[in-house]
Amino acid sequence: MSAPGVNQSRRRVLVAATTAVGAIGAGFVAVPFIASMNPSAKARAAGAPVEADISKLEAGALLRVKWRGKPVWIVKRTPEMLAALPTLDSQLTDPESLVPQQPDYCKNPTRSIKPEIWIAIGICTHLGCSPTYRPEVAPDDLGKDWKGGFFCPCHGSRYDLAGRVYKGVPAPINLLIPNHQYLNDTTILVGQDQGAA
Ligand code: FES
Repeated sequence: MSAPGVNQSRRRVLVAATTAVGAIGAGFVAVPFIASMNPSAKARAAGAPVEADISKLEAGALLRVKWRGKPVWIVKRTPEMLAALPTLDSQLTDPESLVPQQPDYCKNPTRSIKPEIWIAIGICTHLGCSPTYRPEVAPDDLGKDWKGGFFCPCHGSRYDLAGRVYKGVPAPINLLIPNHQYLNDTTILVGQDQGAA
């Protein structure tokens, strides 16, 4: 029978050996896993463009997709929503989007390629919360002048349905619009436009 001290140190050696084998085993598992990622999975992980199918997007609805880990919104605006945009200019910080927050092809009154379809990164330009989509007109909590837009619950910033920020709120600039293009009438490629290789 060995002394208690010997048993203790044997146990410690066994534990150390098991841990080392476990670590080596994890290394061998991780390498084949990364190697087995298919090309599109690798590209996605690196922030490649993503396709959005808008064939089922109804008028007035918002579709969310994820690009580079960020929420991207696609809104199909109704004729009433579009008609309200120019009536808001005097209440907005940068109604003509003079501060560059969008690609040139979205530097227009609707901030979009097609007037009815609007795309933006759904992150508040104040401190990065995700604003809430509030398309309804004159709801009790947002007031009788509200014509639909986005409300940030963190510190109360407000944006219209083109992502233009209202005056007097903490957010300094309009919502950002990512590069994008139409692959066909119902498919949008977010993250790459026609100018890109
Ligand atoms: S993060 Fe949106 S208002 Fe502050």
